[in-house]
Amino acid sequence: MLVHIKDLVIPDMVGKFAYPAFNTQNLETTMGIIQAADGLNTPVIIEVSEGAVKYAGLTTIYEIMATLADSVKVPVALHMDHGKDMEQLRRGIELGFSSVMIDHSGLSTEENIRDTKAMVEFAHSHGAWVQGEIGKIRGSEDWVNVSDSEALLTDPDEAEQFYRATGVDTLAGSFGTVHGIIKIRGGVTPHVDVARINAIHQRIKVPLVLHGASGVDENVIHAAIEAGIAIINIDTELRLAYGESLRKSLADQPEEVDPRYIMKPVIEAVKKAAERKLLQFGTKNLIKQ
Ligand code: G3H
Ligand code: 13P
Ligand code: ZN
Repeated sequence: MLVHIKDLVIPDMVGKFAYPAFNTQNLETTMGIIQAADGLNTPVIIEVSEGAVKYAGLTTIYEIMATLADSVKVPVALHMDHGKDMEQLRRGIELGFSSVMIDHSGLSTEENIRDTKAMVEFAHSHGAWVQGEIGKIRGSEDWVNVSDSEALLTDPDEAEQFYRATGVDTLAGSFGTVHGIIKIRGGVTPHVDVARINAIHQRIKVPLVLHGASGVDENVIHAAIEAGIAIINIDTELRLAYGESLRKSLADQPEEVDPRYIMKPVIEAVKKAAERKLLQFGTKNLIKQ
């Protein structure tokens, strides 16, 4: 069932469990995510990046996400991830995304506040939520050493100032994680600064979002949830499941030409990867309620 993100991310859940926000790019990834959520009877957030929109088309990917979300009983909310193009975010809101992330964290703090505030005004006038970002979350391409990376982490004072100036509904920060495959294949273990998350949570009661969370140890995830993380973004772990199972499926069935049979194990692998995260993030608490 397609729901607004505000129906999932309620103040009561913060500190207890987190929703995974899974990135999708196509039909099969979305099917795997939806089947995992449906099978565990666990609500989920599905999100799409600008790169995925460029690949699939905004309306096409939205319709795939919304149609599949509405094909199951379990609540599913749709979100636009890491938006730099404000016009595209506005189009997404008009289309039906209940939440968008404006990521102008690469600009100066003043410019980030200005643009995020404008996005919040537009989104709220259309009933949608906005996620802002303050601090710089590293990507595989800008991995730096630990002392340098400290400088990129979200400062609690700045987070409070950003929140109060913009009125965002959810807030992403740089808490030590890094986007992409590097922490899984690159042999580097990001240090998640749980104390920093807690310090921000104590100041501002806005649901916090942990990006770059693929491959992060389960105990660290639980500590981050207790400290105030309400949404955890996962892309790379699903991409890995997708890629590995597709390679195996093609190798196992070298004569097969029907995409439906080639893709069946891929959907299953994405489903299993998504299930692991849904269970790990404590969303299983919902099942008991
Ligand atoms: O945080 C970014 C997501 O993993 C999306 O990545 O921009 O390559 O689609 P992408
Ligand atoms: P990963 O690359 O760790 O899966 O992070 C995804 C993400 O943060 C999407 O916004
Ligand atoms: Zn991210």
